[in-house]
Amino acid sequence: MKTRILKVERDNPDPATIEIAAEAIRQGRLVAFPTETVYGLGANALDPEAVLSIFKTKGRPADNPLIAHVASKDEVNRIAFLNDLACRIIDHFWPGPLTLVLPAREIVPAVVTAGLTTVAVRMPSNSVATMLIQRAGVPIAGPSANRSGRPSPTDARSVYEDLGDRVSVILDSGATEVGVESTVIDVTGKEVVLLRPGGLPLEKITKLVGRVLLPTDQKEIKRSPGTRYRHYAPLVPLLLWEQGTTRDDIMEMSMCPIGFLGIHEPPFTAKNKIIFPDLDSYARNLFSSFRILERAGVKTIIAEFPDEEGVGLALRDRLRRAASQ
Ligand code: TXA
Ligand code: MG
Repeated sequence: MKTRILKVERDNPDPATIEIAAEAIRQGRLVAFPTETVYGLGANALDPEAVLSIFKTKGRPADNPLIAHVASKDEVNRIAFLNDLACRIIDHFWPGPLTLVLPAREIVPAVVTAGLTTVAVRMPSNSVATMLIQRAGVPIAGPSANRSGRPSPTDARSVYEDLGDRVSVILDSGATEVGVESTVIDVTGKEVVLLRPGGLPLEKITKLVGRVLLPTDQKEIKRSPGTRYRHYAPLVPLLLWEQGTTRDDIMEMSMCPIGFLGIHEPPFTAKNKIIFPDLDSYARNLFSSFRILERAGVKTIIAEFPDEEGVGLALRDRLRRAASQ
């Protein structure tokens, strides 16, 4: 299959271009599309065959459910059951980098939910994504558009690098704004449970609802299946460094080509150094920096392990999992 890579303006996408991608979705094919977090690999969420091809293309384990992307709040009712708590959260944070796990309606194929009785739903804020969903006329199931285990793609080049000609269309609206995936919460009970930290800081949700339970409070019961896997990893070893600490193993490596990324100057020499002005830009550029440093031929990547405020919590989660062997 020859992939069509179509450039679109993020804030003012050309409807005729989006229509080409929407038609591919309706025909059961795969479309990589930008969201504000990372690029997604989309298929018609109501077409089990199409959704199955997402798993094959990514090499994704079948027990890891997908997010269904919608273009409006009302569309959620078609696939999930809303409660008051969910409505309040949605009104406050959508469109945006927040995914809600809700009780699923029967229309949702088991391949989307990995056989669970719940479905994850999100409305992205990128207008290329919402126009695509609207025009396709169906919710779009989509994980990040990387091969399973690799860093999530935050630009069209990274999508093509990982998935090449295995997708029908790649919509290219440039680099994404948030850079880490959405925050995932379970809203099926009386209290909100955090399943995956992400682009929307936990503090903001806590401020709205009073309290958010962490997976540890829940004894693993409700953990998001995806958080079990090693993920996001660059091709070379990744070590974590915390500001204000020294690590002998890192100091000893100063002779070999190290790539560093973080927000503080490190106490060791690095061949390639990427220092960001703040946590948000660290998050925005995390995955693309892994890929840049790989291409630069460093032998080890050392990443600063930040504090957990704001998007720091998501950065710590991604870094921990990318560094685990
Ligand atoms: O920002 C994002 O969330 C991106 C963009 C493309 O929207 N998508 C994304 O999808 O990161 P993915 O598949 O890489 O991550 C979805 C996460 C996984 O950890 C998965 O296990 C969890 O959501 N999840 C999906 N459905 C679930 C469910 N019914 N119950 C619990 N966790 C669920
Ligand atoms: Mg992913």
